[in-house]
Amino acid sequence: MHVLITGGAGFIGSHLTDLLIGRGDTVTILDDLSTGRIENLTAARAYARERVEFIQGDVTDARLVNRLAHQADLIVHLAAAVGVFRIQHDTLRSLHTNLRGTEVVLEAAHQAGTRVVVASTSEVYGKNDCDGLTEESDRIIGSPLLSRWSYAEAKAIDETITYQYVQHLGLQAIIIRPFNTTGPRQRGRYGMVVPRFIQQALAGEPVTVYGTGEQSRSFGHVLDIVGAIATLVDTPAAYGQVFNIGNPAQITINGLAQKVVERSGSRSPIIHVDYETAYGPGFEDMQRRVPDISKISGLTGYAPRFSLDDIIDSIIAERRVLAVAS
Ligand SMILES: NC(=O)c1ccc[n+]([C@@H]2O[C@H](COP(=O)([O-])OP(=O)(O)OC[C@H]3O[C@@H](n4cnc5c(N)ncnc54)[C@H](O)[C@@H]3O)[C@@H](O)[C@H]2O)c1
Repeated sequence: MHVLITGGAGFIGSHLTDLLIGRGDTVTILDDLSTGRIENLTAARAYARERVEFIQGDVTDARLVNRLAHQADLIVHLAAAVGVFRIQHDTLRSLHTNLRGTEVVLEAAHQAGTRVVVASTSEVYGKNDCDGLTEESDRIIGSPLLSRWSYAEAKAIDETITYQYVQHLGLQAIIIRPFNTTGPRQRGRYGMVVPRFIQQALAGEPVTVYGTGEQSRSFGHVLDIVGAIATLVDTPAAYGQVFNIGNPAQITINGLAQKVVERSGSRSPIIHVDYETAYGPGFEDMQRRVPDISKISGLTGYAPRFSLDDIIDSIIAERRVLAVAS
């Protein structure tokens, strides 16, 4: 299969590239390297350079995306502006990428008759903190004037547009809603909590918990998430549907900070920073965000293989190797 991955030099996209290259596919990556890094593709290129094509470009470039879509059997659309800090501080440009980029990809897929996976997010559920969000759960979203929700709004509209292409134009599309996904290659710069805590702990700096730390989250290992995507695209019954992907095991952010300090053997203190200091005025957060994964499990047999301890250990190992190499 020839797969076009938008955002393929990013965290999830590069792991998906590794998986697809490993199973014999050819991958074209379209990425503007705004948060992605070319080093993320080193392993895939070392393994089979001739099957990894990298194109630096913008996913909103309709002519380019159209050309690439015609050469592909499948598009996995991951390119997006992500991370709470980036969304908060560059809201307009983020909206443009996250809305226009998806429109361009969907129209190109339609024109080319190419199957497509569209990455949405668990953020679409907003402040709904029920214990086990299903794909049908309601969205509870704050004011449209709070830029914090603009990412969720854009992704929700992306889903609606995708669904319209499926319903009215016969597009073969799958929508995925990854929950918090983490693992090696993720960076803490834009607000991702696990790599940020690990970076602080390894540097012996205070581990900074935002808010009370009593909010709980569920973290999925990136290898589980890309495995789920690869399985879904090979499952004909998945097309036309939306799927949560994640790991339902829950932990509070205080518990996460504690675990990171313990597993890294760090002496860092854990300190609390209020939301306003961390993110600026008007920031809202949800108390809990837990996926119900029975839909994807029922269809494909998906079950997470990696625990939070595995995730933390794999990131610590990556950071130690990088520290030695630099
Ligand atoms: N990591 C998570 O926890 C998570 C959770 C839910 C959904 N998602 C979704 O998964 C996808 C991948 O996220 P990620 O965590 O790998 O983040 P990432 O930032 O590592 O990946 C996004 C990639 O898109 C690229 N990109 C951004 N704007 C672009 C543009 N205009 N043109 C071309 N490329 C562009 C970036 O350079 C980057 O490589 C995103 O769509 C994100 O919304 C991620």
